[in-house]
Amino acid sequence: MKDYAPIETDWNYEATLERRHKFMSPSLRTFVAFQKPIILKRGEMQYVWDEKGRKYLDCLAQNLCISVGHCHPLVNREVRRQMEELVHCTTMYYQPVPAHLAEELVGKMPAGHDWVAHFVNSGAEAADLALLMARLYTGNFDIIALRNCFHGLHFASMSLTGIATCRHALPPSPGILHVHNPDQYRGVHGATVQPYVEEIDILINSSTPGAVAGFIAEPIQGYGGVIPLPAGYLKGAFERVRAAGGVCIVDEVQTGFGRMGTDMWGFEAHEVVPDIVIMAKGIGNGYPLAAVVARREVAEAMAKKKFFNTYGSNPVACAAGRGVLRAIEVDGLRDNARRMGALLEERLEALKARCDVIGDFRGRGLMLGVELVKDRAAKTPAPEEAARVAEVAKERGLIVGRGGIFGNVLRINPPICVDSANVEFIAEVLGEACRRL
Ligand SMILES: Cc1ncc(COP(=O)(O)O)c(C=O)c1O
Repeated sequence: MKDYAPIETDWNYEATLERRHKFMSPSLRTFVAFQKPIILKRGEMQYVWDEKGRKYLDCLAQNLCISVGHCHPLVNREVRRQMEELVHCTTMYYQPVPAHLAEELVGKMPAGHDWVAHFVNSGAEAADLALLMARLYTGNFDIIALRNCFHGLHFASMSLTGIATCRHALPPSPGILHVHNPDQYRGVHGATVQPYVEEIDILINSSTPGAVAGFIAEPIQGYGGVIPLPAGYLKGAFERVRAAGGVCIVDEVQTGFGRMGTDMWGFEAHEVVPDIVIMAKGIGNGYPLAAVVARREVAEAMAKKKFFNTYGSNPVACAAGRGVLRAIEVDGLRDNARRMGALLEERLEALKARCDVIGDFRGRGLMLGVELVKDRAAKTPAPEEAARVAEVAKERGLIVGRGGIFGNVLRINPPICVDSANVEFIAEVLGEACRRL
């Protein structure tokens, strides 16, 4: 090979900041992790290092993209092997790696159904595609989503997303209707299930022609504040939606790929089988990959017209996806997520007993949220306190996220390879940060 000189990168903090502000889109300013964000230089499993060599436990896993661990050796080896051979091949040609990944992914879905996978590049694209499939298959138009949900920020997905700070002041994509999310802590109907389910019927009978294209929900609302759907809700919702001719879409972008512990998917705990599942983030362990897995007959509805997106099924990204599925099994990560999640819940329970600022903690497996309040009885959100806890944690080498419509929920969603020493460290640092408030 010709002796090309390596391209230099300037790791200086101020220079990076200046270049970013000068040459990258201003919208990037609107979503940063800390007052003074960290430059990340290196990652290994559950840890990242900044440009000065400071180590952090990454409990937001780059917004849950890092499922099995930063630079997981198995995933990276598969990527390297593919990269050395062929970096891209569009779906106009045949390539076995995406076909293998589709087979392996379909193998993780509930048995007894004819599933097919369609690969794209991001969660928002997957949500758009799911809407297209649902509408074409059913011949109906309206889609029901939950308030407070997050399904991405492209045109249609932004209209699905039920969080004001994420929605631009433009006419939304038509045919998207929201019902109250069954938030058991703050929801309008309190800690109940049936009234929330009945809202779906009321909406169908009042705001649609009586028939809908579908319903979409995250099993645990992630960015919305780690809000799990209560038992029985999805079952009731699916019945109502199917009775109105719609299909049921589950967004597993955050909850999928073993994070729930034992189960591969968030919907499994709800005793339902969706018609369409969207996946992204953890599917690629950081490589841009997303998928829509649907029942064949639903996906078939799209086969009447051409559909092509240039990078969908990219073999390098799909090699990463195969590596992720293999790593989850070889490293026993589902069981790890279950055990570490249970240990962390124990520690958070003890912390809640000691710290009045913790109003609630919730979630499943390694997708946990801690909601901070100024007053437990009034449940007054404490966003400034949540920001301070996150800053103190950062100083101690722990990265936690923040979310919720009030910005008062600490999000603890590490790569699912964390160990018990990491869990004790999380509890210790959060305890200290809460005490210092
Ligand atoms: C549950 C959920 N769905 C969809 C998306 C959109 O994914 P992307 O950012 O890849 O478009 C996200 C992103 O945070 C998400 O959390």
